[in-house]
Amino acid sequence: MRNEKDDAPVVGDAKKPRDISEAYEVMHTPSIFSSARRIPTLDYTLQNIFMSLATLVVATASLILTSAVILPLSLLRSVLPKQMLMQKGADVVEAKGKVVLIVGASRGIGMEVLKTYVPEPGTTVIAVSKNTAPHNFKYRSLPSNLILMYDNADFLRNALITLGDTPATLQMATIDLSANHKEIARAITELDKTYGPITHLYAIAGISNHLKDSSPWGLVRITLSKRNPTRELTGFFEMQDVTEKMIQVNVSGITAVAMSMYECMKERQYGKICIVGSVAGIYAPSNMISYASTKSFLNTFSTSLRTLAAAYNVDVVTIQPGFIDTRMTKKMRGQGSTLMSSEFNSAEEIAKRMKSAVEKGGVGVMTWPTRQSVMMYGFKGLNPICDELGRYISMKGGMGGKKIT
Ligand SMILES: NC(=O)c1ccc[n+]([C@@H]2O[C@H](COP(=O)([O-])OP(=O)(O)OC[C@H]3O[C@@H](n4cnc5c(N)ncnc54)[C@H](OP(=O)(O)O)[C@@H]3O)[C@@H](O)[C@H]2O)c1
Repeated sequence: MRNEKDDAPVVGDAKKPRDISEAYEVMHTPSIFSSARRIPTLDYTLQNIFMSLATLVVATASLILTSAVILPLSLLRSVLPKQMLMQKGADVVEAKGKVVLIVGASRGIGMEVLKTYVPEPGTTVIAVSKNTAPHNFKYRSLPSNLILMYDNADFLRNALITLGDTPATLQMATIDLSANHKEIARAITELDKTYGPITHLYAIAGISNHLKDSSPWGLVRITLSKRNPTRELTGFFEMQDVTEKMIQVNVSGITAVAMSMYECMKERQYGKICIVGSVAGIYAPSNMISYASTKSFLNTFSTSLRTLAAAYNVDVVTIQPGFIDTRMTKKMRGQGSTLMSSEFNSAEEIAKRMKSAVEKGGVGVMTWPTRQSVMMYGFKGLNPICDELGRYISMKGGMGGKKIT
């Protein structure tokens, strides 16, 4: 017979949280200077002072370059005729009708982007969200302008139905971004073959650990039986790996979508790709550790892809939203965020700005609301000592809620 005591965990303290407050590990973190050992060493402090001086020099040079060289060019651009600002080949490719793929279209920012395209006759919009039957992809089209699908996609289907008859043709598909990258690539390629060539990709979908109230942050914790250390204990002691899930969806899933679309567009020498990172990827409270890291990846990936893709006439735009009022932030507010409700901005407004940046060109990073974005970019100038202090203070201040995400 199995002895409960003998099977007590020996690795980690993987006890199951009894309630939400126990999952808010962040509340129990010690004060940043709680021991003298944490005071920065002299060498480290001097190095940080030099870093700040270098930041001042670089920031000044960047300000001068942007004001003295780029600003006059931007002024010139604003008076140029529209035709001169069109992406090469847009007249030929888009004359047949835009085909806009929106991944993460069921709600929030994605749904608002979708709404900006549905009034366009001749445009096809492919709305994609999660398939709740994991690692599976199916689609089916109906002859009307609203293409409905099967089971497991009720939320997306209902959201599209509420739009009623639309001038644009709506297609619908489900893809789980936590699926294997090959399956995702196959699904995207199939959509491109069926409804494409896809001219626009909006890679918007993403998750944070705010979505579930009872999922403590952590990496995989293996708990071994005391009596038999080769035996893994699961069930009660199992720790849900929320970090891995965020990496799967926000990093691997979005990268697979963007890269498979990029390959198709590169071959055709035409396309527009829009990837949603976040200002959290620039600067975030320490308790947004895994979410912010996935968004840092996307910010970097997307801005670099813009440079690489330019040679193939593929335009890449990075979106870095501030706080936007959606399901994700509603959950965060319910989990103790101290931000005032006025700090959460309209998804409809950011969607309009996203579309404008994608359609007009000339914008590498679209970040909004401006006040929040400017502040976050300012924080880029922090040296590591002040960076650590700032992340700690904003965590303690409860900016991103109390939960670790
Ligand atoms: N809201 C903000 O303040 C804010 C700030 C910065 C960045 N962002 C980013 O903006 C993007 C949109 O966020 P939101 O605020 O609009 O969130 P949201 O309302 O929660 O919408 C998230 C979307 O992603 C989809 N999605 C989630 N997991 C998926 C999966 N495994 N496979 C496929 N699709 C999946 C959802 O589909 P289902 O409906 O099927 O779940 C939904 O369409 C995210 O990348 C987020 O990180 C948001």
